[in-house]
Amino acid sequence: MFSWLNNNQSGEPEKIELDPNNIPAHVAIIMDGNGRWAQKRHLPRVAGHKQGMETVKTITKAASDLGIKVLTLYAFSTENWKRPTDEVNYLMKLPVDFFDTFVPELISNNVRVNVMGYTDQLPKKTQKAVADAIEDTKDCDGMVLNFALNYGSRAEITTAVQEIAQSVQQGQLKPEDISADTISSHLMTAPLGQYQDPDVVIRTSGEERISNFLLWQIAYSEFVFMAPHWPEFTAELLTEAVYEYQHRKRRFGGLTK
Ligand code: FPP
Repeated sequence: MFSWLNNNQSGEPEKIELDPNNIPAHVAIIMDGNGRWAQKRHLPRVAGHKQGMETVKTITKAASDLGIKVLTLYAFSTENWKRPTDEVNYLMKLPVDFFDTFVPELISNNVRVNVMGYTDQLPKKTQKAVADAIEDTKDCDGMVLNFALNYGSRAEITTAVQEIAQSVQQGQLKPEDISADTISSHLMTAPLGQYQDPDVVIRTSGEERISNFLLWQIAYSEFVFMAPHWPEFTAELLTEAVYEYQHRKRRFGGLTK
């Protein structure tokens, strides 16, 4: 399991070898930079999203090959509705195109689709594409390809608090019995079970912020910020991010690994 690292100080490509026993189980990616990638090429922003969709295909396959258990991709946030209508419409059509063409390959790679977010607010066609993909891949037991679609972490936490408050009001739960696990179990990542918290969060395009993504779940995640825009992200760059992760010392608040 190796790749070439190109951006080291010597300027010479360096061969990197991953530790197969320390592959992050849950990798979450903030796929940023589609618009800038397009603008640099004098293309409309949506051309960046289209190319970004192709990158999703490449990285899904690469992540599955690496043995990653859950790949969460931030595809559309609860704040992205503020973008121009044409762009929003295009982004809503992408899952339709993606699943129309890619589900057979997902199945042949044993990849199961999951979607987290306020999906009931998506256009009906998008909802159907998503529901069909979930259904068609439900027997796959390899990697979970988890799309965050109309997802926002503050909204997610707010919904969880409302649900927990209701349980208290109905006498099913005592306030003193509310634990961190209670909260986790009300979040949209709960169906991911033991893999609900990302081990590593990657953000492309050089921006270094979280943008309302998995705020509760990233308490002990490692962060890898990378300069390339999402449409130019590659399997080699994913390997590089995993390599970087493998050289971090995770202490979870303690003193040793
Ligand atoms: C951020 O780039 C990207 C998005 C808001 C959309 C991400 C969506 C995809 C990569 C395609 C998803 C594919 C499927 C199958 C759902 P930006 O537009 O904010 O880039 P900028 O910061 O350069 O403007």
